[in-house]
Amino acid sequence: MKILVLAGDGVGAEVTCAAVEVLQSVAKKFSHSLDLAEGLIGGVAIKKTGSPLPQDTLDKAMAADAVLLGAVGSPEFDDAPPEKRPEKGLLGIRKALGLYANLRPVKMWPSLVDSSPLKNEIVSGTDLVIVRELTGGLYYGQPRGVFTDHAVNTMSYTRAEIERIARKAFELARGRRKKVTSVDKSNVIENSQLWRRVVTEVARDYPEIELEHILVDNCAMQLVLNPRRFDVMVMENMFGDILSDEGAVLAGSIGMLPSASLGESKGLYEPVHGSAPDIAGRNKANPLGTIGSAAAMLDYTFGLKNEARAIENAIGKVLESGRVTADLKPKGPPATTEEVAKAVAAEIAANNEI
Ligand code: IPM
Ligand code: MG
Repeated sequence: MKILVLAGDGVGAEVTCAAVEVLQSVAKKFSHSLDLAEGLIGGVAIKKTGSPLPQDTLDKAMAADAVLLGAVGSPEFDDAPPEKRPEKGLLGIRKALGLYANLRPVKMWPSLVDSSPLKNEIVSGTDLVIVRELTGGLYYGQPRGVFTDHAVNTMSYTRAEIERIARKAFELARGRRKKVTSVDKSNVIENSQLWRRVVTEVARDYPEIELEHILVDNCAMQLVLNPRRFDVMVMENMFGDILSDEGAVLAGSIGMLPSASLGESKGLYEPVHGSAPDIAGRNKANPLGTIGSAAAMLDYTFGLKNEARAIENAIGKVLESGRVTADLKPKGPPATTEEVAKAVAAEIAANNEI
């Protein structure tokens, strides 16, 4: 398994290190070999090379089977123009690898119901996936720019772009509860009108899947009123960025959320959370979102379902044992990033059912 690790900024180094430790324990248990490479992205890359996405990183990403990414972003670059910001590295690699489908599962682990600030009866049983379009929409649309006293961004989608992300959502729903919710703002935005029309057309190829349309503002409310009504949710890039952070509240902490960004051939796996500069370097960050992303990598890129399940089961056991970081509000003293990683790796090593 040829994997490129891009730690990036802030807590990125700690959480990717934790996920690599877990991958190593899976590789040992199941007799696989890992071929790990490292590269620069984000603020650290700007400081060392002047670019948030050096060519060397892109070359290594093209040569790898999959990329494991930590986080990008640093307050040092807050005043820099978009082209010179760490985030540009992430947007650049998503585009360069053609990673148009970003899957962000939001699952409430039973042992975490008390970690969410929302009432238990609302969050318990939540099990949904946000399918966020990742290489189009407001993030990339042209024209864009700041012109003296006028600034422009464009929400642009072609029929083909909408169709391929819609297909991803319907395919995913087939293996789940067979419901797709398409999120848009078709009462105001023309782009959303095309979105809704194309998703409805694609749905005809999936008669066994129920399709509902929902406006994004109402969706933001429904997510915290009744999250169990959602199974697969498909949406435009920026709607997905916003609603997936809201989804994090349902899972107890944004530190729990994994993600997979998939294209025709490549896959990039990263936690949904950011670089968290306030706790960086302090061994405090929750590594489970990144460890969950490593499990998604084994599943989607390498087709190793049992290995992915071994990680998921180990995460469940560690959560039940209460050895969790401060964001999950443990009853006792919080565990460190390293302790959580070691606990997950040890559960995998100790599991005799494998
Ligand atoms: C995310 C992040 C990124 C995004 C940033 C860091 C560019 O918020 O992955 O959700 O907006 O896509
Ligand atoms: Mg985001």
